[in-house]
Amino acid sequence: MKVKLAPSILSADFSRLGEQVAAATEAGADYIHIDVMDGRFVPNITIGAPVVKALRPWTNLPFDVHLMVEDPLSQIPHFAEAGADIITVHAEVCPHLHRAVQRMKELKVKAGIALNPGTSLAMLDEVLPSLDLVLLMTVNPGFGGQPFIEEVVDKIARLRKILDKRGLTTELEVDGGITTQIAPKVVKAGARVLVAGAAVFGSGKSVKETLKHFRESLRSLEGES
Ligand code: DX5
Ligand code: ZN
Repeated sequence: MKVKLAPSILSADFSRLGEQVAAATEAGADYIHIDVMDGRFVPNITIGAPVVKALRPWTNLPFDVHLMVEDPLSQIPHFAEAGADIITVHAEVCPHLHRAVQRMKELKVKAGIALNPGTSLAMLDEVLPSLDLVLLMTVNPGFGGQPFIEEVVDKIARLRKILDKRGLTTELEVDGGITTQIAPKVVKAGARVLVAGAAVFGSGKSVKETLKHFRESLRSLEGES
């Protein structure tokens, strides 16, 4: 079993984002997680497609673009063109989930759907077989550095069961409050992609050191089949 680490650049130094992306790559990250916020779905405004485009030459790693925006359908082509490899839209603001997934497939990007902590897994039921990734928020979206919401552990386990039962290889990603202490718990529950922002870029240690600590915290679990 392999667990992927996806550092979120939301907590990186925005004055030198390219270097921070390169550092995460060098440190052995699997994806670069990019949090796009529009000031409407969530209060903050962060990164737009031109920034993603500017970062593209800094790494060969997949860009895992998390759209926390009210109108994700209109944004999908811009981020695909800018170099996103995976695009994730929130089910809460996307009544046309099937269309969003189709659009992403047409544009040859991997398709993800995100659910807030308070949103039911039932939202995924009809589109699950077409998805490459499901992102379960383990905080309420909008800010880095918030504490992990324990109640989501059971939801992760329920989604893992559904995926296994339906024979789906969809990636199960968790996002929010993930630290080296929390990581083994969410992996045991069934998560296979861990997003971490503050724990990677805001700890005062180097990215290399923090990713090494994440790997160490998962070593015994990754040995299991
Ligand atoms: C929160 C974002 C997260 C955030 C995670 O709305 O979706 O990706 O960067 O940051 P931490 O790991 O600090 O909770
Ligand atoms: Zn995110």
